[in-house]
Amino acid sequence: MAEFSATGMTEAERAAAIEAGRLLFSGPCDFFFGAQTLGQLPPPGLPEIAFAGRSNVGKSSLINGLTGRKALARASSQPGRTQQLNFFNLGDRLVLVDMPGYGFAKAAKAVKEDWQGLMFEYLRGRPSLARVMLLLDARVEIKQNDREAMTLLNRAAVVFQVVLTKCDAVGPRKLQDKCAEVAALVATHAAAHQEILVTSSESGLGMEELRTTLAGLGGPAAV
Ligand code: GTP
Ligand code: MG
Repeated sequence: MAEFSATGMTEAERAAAIEAGRLLFSGPCDFFFGAQTLGQLPPPGLPEIAFAGRSNVGKSSLINGLTGRKALARASSQPGRTQQLNFFNLGDRLVLVDMPGYGFAKAAKAVKEDWQGLMFEYLRGRPSLARVMLLLDARVEIKQNDREAMTLLNRAAVVFQVVLTKCDAVGPRKLQDKCAEVAALVATHAAAHQEILVTSSESGLGMEELRTTLAGLGGPAAV
């Protein structure tokens, strides 16, 4: 008899979903657009996945980790590296959007307000947006602006999913506590996907799971 996993899939279906994720992310992924204003956005097309979170949380590194490329998205130890919405076409099935981070204390006031302005307007108004991956650094406490971002997304009914980053840098006990804390928080947000993804771009932890999830949101393959 076929075994069923927690997702309601048989083992064979789950293996096929993992393989689809692996294949999608090992194929082409190309930068095709950078937008600094809402007027500049590319026309909506393929399903989009936006990577959002505080500055330095590891958004650009996660896109690199997922696609197995070192410098597709520019990452840096200096916060405030990504300064515009960067669009990547993944195999003509999905668009990955690397967003500028919020909460960078040294940023100019106009830049700080940008997340609530341009960035949030993009998230709220984008018809092709399939999901927002909201990244939280597993090593640090959840900040006020992370809570605000969740509230904004929730109010606008934009579906989001929390991804814990840099999990290579925390011990198992602390990681367990962090997961429990985040689970309690997302439970209070109707727009939040309840499953939390535990990842590390550095060690590769959780990459297969995330690739599988994202491939499931992609458009049909071209024939
Ligand atoms: P902004 O573009 O400024 O908003 O930052 P970002 O969220 O894109 O972060 P970025 O990917 O540039 O990474 C910031 C720093 O975190 C870099 O020094 C990375 O090397 C480090 N980093 C990213 N992912 C991981 C990880 O999985 N583990 C560890 N230990 N460090 C990581
Ligand atoms: Mg970045």
